[in-house]
Formats: sequence, structure tokens, C-alpha cells
Amino acid sequence: MYSRVIGTGSALPERLITNDEFARILGEQGIETSDEWIRTRTGIEARRFCTPELGETTTSLAVAAAKNAVESAGIDPKTIDLIIVATTTPDMVFPSVACHVQVALGAQGCAAFDVQAVCAGFIYALNAADAMLRAGPYRRAVVIGAETMSRVLDMSDRSTCVLFGDGAGAVVLESSPNPGILAARMYADGRYGEEVLSVTAHINRGQLVGNPYIHMDGRQVFKLAVEGLTQSAREVADLACVRTEDVALFVPHQANLRIMSMVAKKLGISEEKMVKTVSEHGNTSAASVPLALDRAVRSGMVKEGELVLLQGVGAGMAWGSALIRW
Ligand code: ACO
Repeated sequence: MYSRVIGTGSALPERLITNDEFARILGEQGIETSDEWIRTRTGIEARRFCTPELGETTTSLAVAAAKNAVESAGIDPKTIDLIIVATTTPDMVFPSVACHVQVALGAQGCAAFDVQAVCAGFIYALNAADAMLRAGPYRRAVVIGAETMSRVLDMSDRSTCVLFGDGAGAVVLESSPNPGILAARMYADGRYGEEVLSVTAHINRGQLVGNPYIHMDGRQVFKLAVEGLTQSAREVADLACVRTEDVALFVPHQANLRIMSMVAKKLGISEEKMVKTVSEHGNTSAASVPLALDRAVRSGMVKEGELVLLQGVGAGMAWGSALIRW
């Protein structure tokens, strides 16, 4: 048995923030940045931030993306057996985002849980859903990546606040005798923890303890991301007995265009096969891969039977790849 993607969807908040607007926000605090610096170092031109007053939350984005994916799959939500949401910014400690999505979809009774692997979250969630569908008895799963990273950005730290954005993406997976997800692998190395990339805050007895904003060693993240993504792509290609050069659609984690291009080059994948939504969305963490995939599918970048490579990497460090016969 395999699992196959039978529908994709995505959702974005209303508010668009360009690099020039960031330059103004930081400039008002006496901190220098520019569209030119952000674009040349990261490839990012704009990102979307949620407006809580409009009711935009991680859950609302997850629900919208999931409904969009269910609609494109053309299935009855009552036939969903499993909902997994990858998120590092849930709206509450509990219940999970997945349980809220379940109610909004009208899929009460099915299994529903969240996965926390930060920017690698969607690959982890997809891998888990694939394994559960292949093992049974689950037949249909909705796998979502949804984030409101704007909630954990220090708007006076120019080295991190310009990088991230909010959004959600989703896929509907169905078990099938035909491929499908050919191979998926996930990895982590917890030695590269708080010092490399973290938000250490937590709630303890009514108090917020730790740093509620992103701390990042950008250079170390860059190096580890390139290594992990290259290694995991080669691993899934070997497992599926294909060459990375034969990938028709490359959907890397949308963190930084320089990381994405470097990995594509190492894998022998040409730039025109790579989805680049980082320019419009910034780094949406667990949402980045399904959001980029939905864009690519809807714009006709992939045909049935072609090879699609998905990749995620982020804090933990955690990373992974999935190779799909579309
Ligand atoms: N505007 C202007 N200057 C800036 C900005 C900014 N927004 N941010 C940092 N700088 C400054 C720094 O302060 C530094 O100044 P200094 O030399 O006076 O100290 C200078 O620019 C150069 O900084 P570097 O860190 O050397 O710049 P670098 O070329 O490494 O780019 C960046 C920094 C973009 C963060 C890069 O390291 C990177 O992309 N790393 C990967 C990080 C990432 O992708 N994180 C996402 C989360 S994890 C994930 O999703 C994989």
C-alpha cells in the first residue's frame, strides 16, 4: 500500500508587509535595514501577518487551508479518518489545533493531533500520516502546516523579524495500491538546540518564563540546513531507487533563497523546477512546504507520474525529506 496526495489547499492572512514597510518600522526605532539587504540575503520581498482583531489565528488559517484541500480533493469530510496539524504556534496549550480543525470540518470522531517539529513539522506530519495510512486502518488523512510566527517575533531584532510570516497549507492523503509517497525520512539532532534556534518561553504557574521571542544563530542554521537537506534528499532518492536529478518539482522549505539554491545545485536539480514562494510569504515554518506545494499544483507545475521532492528543516535541529510519485 501507498498513500497518495489527492488534494491541496492553502490560506494566508490579509495583511501584507513589504520590506519597505519593515524598513520604516525598524527605522522608527533607530534600527537600520533595507529592502535591498533583506532581498539579497534572503530572497524575501514581503510576508503576511495575522490581525487577531480580524479573528485570524493559527486555527483559522489551518481550517481555511484544510477546507480548501478537502474541496480540491472532492471528498466528504465525514470520510476523513485522521487529522494531523504541524504547528509550533498553536493558539492554546490545549486542546490541539487539530481538534479545532476537526470540528470546523465536520469530521467529528476521527483521530486528531498536533505535531511539533517547527519548520520540519509538515514533513514529520506527512511521514506520520503516510505510515499510518499504509499500516491501516486509516484511509483518508488531512495533513496541515499552520503558523502565526508573527506572535514570536521581536520587532526590534532586525536579524530575525524580517525573515518570518504567517500562513497555512494542507494536503489530503488517501491510501492507494498505486504510488504515492515513495519514501519519507525524518531526522533530528537535539545537540543543536536552544543556542542555535529557539523560543524558550513557557507558562509556569500563571507566569511566562523564558524568552518569548525567536533567538537564532543565522550562520549555524544556514550550514546545518544545507547539510541536512542535502543528506535527507539523497537518502529518500536512494530508498526510492531514483536520482535527485530526475525530480520534476522541488518544494524545499521556504526559509532563504540562498539555502534553497545551494541545496538544489548540490542535488543537480535546476532552478526552474524549484518552487520559490519565499519571496512573497517569507518563512512560514511548518506551513511553508504545503503552502508552496499548493501554489505549484494550482499553477500546473507538476504532471501526473512526475517526481516531487518535499523538504523541511528547522529548530531542534529537525529535518527531513519526502519523495512523491505524483
Ligand atoms: N538589515 C540590515 N542588516 C542586518 C539585518 C537586516 N535585517 N540583519 C542582520 N544584519 C546585519 C548584522 O547585524 C551584521 O552586521 P555586523 O556585521 O555589523 O554585525 C550583518 O548584517 C551581517 O550579518 P550576517 O549574519 O553575517 O549575515 P548573513 O549573510 O549570514 O545573513 C541571515 C544573515 C540572512 C540570517 C543568514 O545567516 C541566514 O539566512 N541564515 C539562515 C537562517 C534561517 O533561515 N532562519 C530561518 C529559521 S530556521 C529555518 O527555517 C531553516
